[in-house]
Amino acid sequence: MGKIGVGLVGWGTVGCGVIQTLRENADVIESRLGARLELLRVADLDLERQRPVSVPRQMLTTRMEDILGDPEIQIVIELMGGLKAARTLIVSALENGKHVVTANKALLAHHGNELFALARQKGLSLSFEASVGGGIPIVKSLREGLAGNRITTIFGILNGTANYILTRMSDNGLSFADALKEAQSLGYAEADPTLDVEGIDTAHKLAIAGAIAFGTPVQFDRVHTEGISKIDPVDIQFAEEFGYAIKLLAIARNVDGRLEMRVHPTLIPENHVLAGVKGAYNAIHLEGNAVGDVMLYGMGAGMMPTGSAVVSDLIDAARDILQGTPGRIPALAFLPDRGQKIEIKPVSDISTSYYFRFLALDKPGVLSKISGVLGSRGISIAAVIQKGRHADSVPIVMVTHEALESSVREALAEIDKLDLVLAPTTLIRIEDNASRV
Ligand code: HSE
Repeated sequence: MGKIGVGLVGWGTVGCGVIQTLRENADVIESRLGARLELLRVADLDLERQRPVSVPRQMLTTRMEDILGDPEIQIVIELMGGLKAARTLIVSALENGKHVVTANKALLAHHGNELFALARQKGLSLSFEASVGGGIPIVKSLREGLAGNRITTIFGILNGTANYILTRMSDNGLSFADALKEAQSLGYAEADPTLDVEGIDTAHKLAIAGAIAFGTPVQFDRVHTEGISKIDPVDIQFAEEFGYAIKLLAIARNVDGRLEMRVHPTLIPENHVLAGVKGAYNAIHLEGNAVGDVMLYGMGAGMMPTGSAVVSDLIDAARDILQGTPGRIPALAFLPDRGQKIEIKPVSDISTSYYFRFLALDKPGVLSKISGVLGSRGISIAAVIQKGRHADSVPIVMVTHEALESSVREALAEIDKLDLVLAPTTLIRIEDNASRV
C-alpha cells in the first residue's frame, strides 16, 4: 500500500479535527484512496497548550521549514489563519512543489486569484473546501456536482455565529448584546466578533462561492456587506407580523449578465427553507438552470465538521498525486482563460422590496408626508403597521413593492430630514422571490 506524506501547520481546533478524523477513519480513507494518508509533522508556535487531540512529541515542531523542507511531505495543510504568514506559507509550499489544502477564507478572499494562479503555474493543487460552509461540501457541489448547470442564484446562511445570535433574538427575545455575549461564552463568537457580526466572514465566503458559481475571479472588494449589529428585536417582531424571518444572507445572482453579490440582514418569507435554519447551522440554497433548487445544510464550523472538509480535500489531492492528474479540476471551476471578470452591480443598482421602520412624531399628516416622498420616487407601499406609542413618538413600519435602491436611498435621505422624523430610518432588504423549496 502506497502512502502520501502530509504536514499540518496550525494545531488549533480544526487541526485537531483533521488529526482525529485521519486517525478514526484511516481504514475507510485507505479503502477509498488505495493509499495511506500519513501525517508526518505538525507545526505550531505554541506546543504547550492543552488540546483535545494529542500528537507524539517527535512529530511536533515550531518551525515551518521542517515541513517545507521535508521531501516526504507532499501535501501541506494551512490552518494557521490570518493573512500575511499564511500567504507566505502557501507561496513557499507551492514553490517547494507541495500541494496545499487550506481553510482560510479571508486569505482566499483577499489573495485567492494570485494563489490559484501560482498553484496552476506550478502544476499543483490548492484546495479549500473548508473555507465555505465548514463541513458542508459547497465547493465540491458547485464545482463538480453541478458542473453541467448555469448557476443562477445563491442564497446562503454562511456564518454560524450570526445565525445563532439572530435565532436567540427571534426565538427567545434576547437583545443583540445579550445574544452576542452568550455566543461568546459558548465559544462561537471570538472576543472581537467584528468579522462574524459585521458580515465580513460571510462576504469572504460569498466571494469564493460566487467565483466558482459564476466563473469570475474572486472579487471580495465588490461584495456589498452589512452586518447584524444594528438589528433591533423590535424589527424581528415586526418582520414576523408581516410573515418574515430576518437572516444574515449571502446573496449572489446573475441578472442580465451582471452579478449581484451582497451580504446583509434580509427578510425572507417565514416558509422559506432558509428561515428554518436555526442556531449555529449553515445552509446554502442554489438554483441551477438544469437541476432547479438544491439545498445544502449542516455545520458551518467546529473541530470535526471543518476537519471533515479538510480531509476530503486531502483525499482529492492524494488521488491526483497517485493518478498524476493535479489540476484536473480548475480551482475556481472554470478554466482561467475561459472565465471572465463579470461586473458586479453596485448596490445602488439593485431592485428589491424593502422594510422601513420610521420613528416619527405621532401627529396628523405624518404618514401622508412620508408616503408622499416615497411616491414621488416611484416607491410603492405594500403594507403599513403603526402601533405603540412612546410619549409623542411612534414607530411606523412599512413594506414596499420592488423599488430601485438608489431611489430608496434618495427618498430616505429626504424623509430623515423631515422635522416630524425623529431618528434615522431603519432599512432592511426583503427577498420575496427567493424560491421556497
Ligand atoms: N466564525 C465562523 C462562523 C466560522 O461563526 O460561522 C468560521 O468561518
